[in-house]
Amino acid sequence: MSGNTIGTLFSVTTFGESHGAALGCVIDGCPAGVPIDKAIIARELARRRPGGDAPGDAPASTTRREADEPEILSGVFEGKTLGTPIAVIIRNQDHHSVDYDALRDVYRPGHADWTWEAKFGIRDHRGGGRSSGRETVGRVAAGAVAKSFLSQYGVVIQAWSSSIAGVTAPAPGDPSFSLAQAENNALRMPVSSAALEAILAKIERLRLEGDSVGGGVTCVVRGVPPGLGEPVFDKLDARLAQAMLSVGAAKGVEFGAGFASADSQGSLLNDAPVPYQSDPAELSALLPAALPDGVPPVSFKTNNAGGVLGGISDGMPLEFRVAFKPVPSISKKQTTVDRAGSVRELIVNGRHDVCIVPRAVPVVEAMTALVLADMFLLQWRNRQRN
Ligand SMILES: Cc1cc2nc3c(=O)[nH]c(=O)nc-3n(C[C@H](O)[C@H](O)[C@H](O)COP(=O)(O)O)c2cc1C
Repeated sequence: MSGNTIGTLFSVTTFGESHGAALGCVIDGCPAGVPIDKAIIARELARRRPGGDAPGDAPASTTRREADEPEILSGVFEGKTLGTPIAVIIRNQDHHSVDYDALRDVYRPGHADWTWEAKFGIRDHRGGGRSSGRETVGRVAAGAVAKSFLSQYGVVIQAWSSSIAGVTAPAPGDPSFSLAQAENNALRMPVSSAALEAILAKIERLRLEGDSVGGGVTCVVRGVPPGLGEPVFDKLDARLAQAMLSVGAAKGVEFGAGFASADSQGSLLNDAPVPYQSDPAELSALLPAALPDGVPPVSFKTNNAGGVLGGISDGMPLEFRVAFKPVPSISKKQTTVDRAGSVRELIVNGRHDVCIVPRAVPVVEAMTALVLADMFLLQWRNRQRN
């Protein structure tokens, strides 16, 4: 099974199954001297954990509880990367494999059970094996390292739940939008406490009905210098989209104005270049230095492109949204087919998220960090060659 590695120069391989001994990652190509220790990785893992560090994201998530304690096996010495491969493992602890016995010979609607068997002829049915949401542990551990590398250059990645159960949160620029509020609430969603209570009540209702619900995660990256992204097949937006769609349950990605662009007009959608204005909150401090001689620094009046033009970062904040479908494992009765090819009714037991969106927030940030770290290194290599 190939396809477990992402990145060209900052490359990450993840491994492990939901109910195996451990999951983890091997990061190859991270420059030496990047500050990293167990606490930095543990902090990101805690944000992904069910009932983790978003105070009370438990209402939406599985009741599986694990410490998710990272063990750094190599590549870090006295709090800094050595420039050698960094291996991190997270041991599985709270797995109830017996809960999944009923799924050994039956295919869950909406999950990867049948397609994995159709491909490999064999499947680890315990917790979904490697098609489990738990697989994202390795991504988040690696993303913590990439974030630490990027933060040295002023790159700040922030994601939040922008819609859940059909309710859309205010967007940046709206006076009621507060990212700090989002990170500290039960759904990682920047909404008023009244709206939050209403969405939580809906999630609870769905949990009792044995159902699930989807939503969207928006990600904004500030401090991205212009010039990241490799024409033609490794465009920045193409690589980010590929990374996002590699996350379980992700069904769509849009940049900037996104799908609404299709109904717009050039005169409304084009982002007009204006002479560069240094705004540390919005634009990369690296912008002027990132430009070749003779290219004037510019910023843009609007950001409908989401910070990418021609697959290359334009110095504006990167902005994109990822759509997540409802969790497929539900305890509501569904019909399916078993391994004998017979029609069966199925109620999925085991511990599952009702809505994965709040837990997908740190995963989206991690995947963004992995792509950007790779793009930084590719750009530096280009510069050395030119
Ligand atoms: C953080 C996270 C948690 C998830 N938790 C669950 C879960 O509890 N139950 C479930 O059936 N699917 C869960 N999923 C979704 C499945 O992994 C995904 O639907 C499955 O692999 C099929 O892939 P697809 O939906 O991308 O086609 C989770 C995904 C993520 C990213």
